[in-house]
Amino acid sequence: MKQYSMIVRGGTPLKGTVTAQGAKNAALTLMPIALLLKGKKWKLSNIPKLSDTQTMIELLTSLGVKSSRDENDDGIIFDVPDEVSYNVPEQKARKMRASSLMLGPLMARCKRVVLPLPGGCSIGSRPIDLHLKGLVQMGAEIEISNGAVHARAKRLRGCRIYLDFPSVGATENLVMAAAFAEGTTTIENTAREPEIFNLTETLKAMGVPIEADGTGLIKVTGVEELDNIQARVIPDRIEACTYILSGVITGSEVTVKDVMLPHVDALLAKLEEAGCGFTVKDNSITVHPMKKAKGYLPLRPISVRTLPFPGFPTDVQPQTMAVLALANGVSTIHENLFETRFMHVAELKKMGANIDVSGNLTIIRGVEEFKGARVTATDLRAGAALILAGLAARGETIVEGFEHVTRGYESIDSKLSSLGAKVRIEENEICG
Ligand code: UD1
Repeated sequence: MKQYSMIVRGGTPLKGTVTAQGAKNAALTLMPIALLLKGKKWKLSNIPKLSDTQTMIELLTSLGVKSSRDENDDGIIFDVPDEVSYNVPEQKARKMRASSLMLGPLMARCKRVVLPLPGGCSIGSRPIDLHLKGLVQMGAEIEISNGAVHARAKRLRGCRIYLDFPSVGATENLVMAAAFAEGTTTIENTAREPEIFNLTETLKAMGVPIEADGTGLIKVTGVEELDNIQARVIPDRIEACTYILSGVITGSEVTVKDVMLPHVDALLAKLEEAGCGFTVKDNSITVHPMKKAKGYLPLRPISVRTLPFPGFPTDVQPQTMAVLALANGVSTIHENLFETRFMHVAELKKMGANIDVSGNLTIIRGVEEFKGARVTATDLRAGAALILAGLAARGETIVEGFEHVTRGYESIDSKLSSLGAKVRIEENEICG
């Protein structure tokens, strides 16, 4: 794998407008629907150009689904053969945690899957036990051997499934499997993330009877075939939040367009509590420019707890921490989703942040400035946090491991440059 760094020259005020890309996580969930459209051509639009969506294209290709880009609306046209493979190749599966999202669609289509376990992850262990338990309740027999899940079922039957935790991935896989099961599946305590709604609305439009009212209860009645309608990926709320925070951390006027406001409400509520001004108009949010007060960002310290939607998103936690580390006073962040999602703390400290970690709690004592440093992104959102910190820092910050960032942010260098940021990407020299 090639390795890259982003070089950020900090201290430049930003100004301008960026448009939210299609949502990475929704795209990764919707793309495998292609597997269910036997012998058809299906178009999904607003798919962001990311290394993760590219990996999903490669995974689908390896199972027999061809795809071509339609540049007009960032769409992909999937050309689905009559037969697809149920054997997910190991090398591709291990590239991305979200390869586990093949499980539900392949069970629906082939009643059989071999899925190499996606393996560890720097933000936590991320098991898939809830996905598997639900499939077993629907009639699957599952064995884990040689590092892979081997699942098969004579038939999938509708049943009642209670999720012990509202897992996003488990909800998505079980909804997909249920769409082709016999009878009605009732899934309780489901995730309520907007990406789930994007999935249920798409399947509904394709003719699957689904009741999903956002209360954490989803009822799916299986069908034998899907109607071939065009579908669209919703805007990326996490990317939008990151650009909103780029305005906050640099005290600049930044507008983010094409945002679904209820999807970013938790961040806006916390920013309001911290005293940050912004204007909301139609589907855009403009952060008001701010001047530093006594050297600090003019924000009140706040306490943040990550929770499943509509709670504060864990995927915005690292970026929010970078901002709070420059506020005047002591803020706290409790991370309740992923046990080791604090890898960015040590890197922010290299830039001068004063942060202590105790279990899932961080105590953030605001400092007056960050100094540019050489830091390493260990995962996607940690990388975004370090870039934000670099934008506010004095001097130059080198964010190594930038390839993690390209998993989730399309053209982040040109989007930030269009706001006036001084950023560039360098390929690293690797020996050996
Ligand atoms: C999805 C998102 C990810 C986001 C996360 C939480 C995608 C591709 N990724 O990940 O960006 O950070 O939601 O909003 O959409 N868990 C179990 N057993 C399971 C499944 C999950 O214990 O079978 C635990 C996980 O370890 C974690 C928590 O549940 O602690 C949440 O995980 P989950 O909601 O499943 O997240 P993902 O779907 O992996």
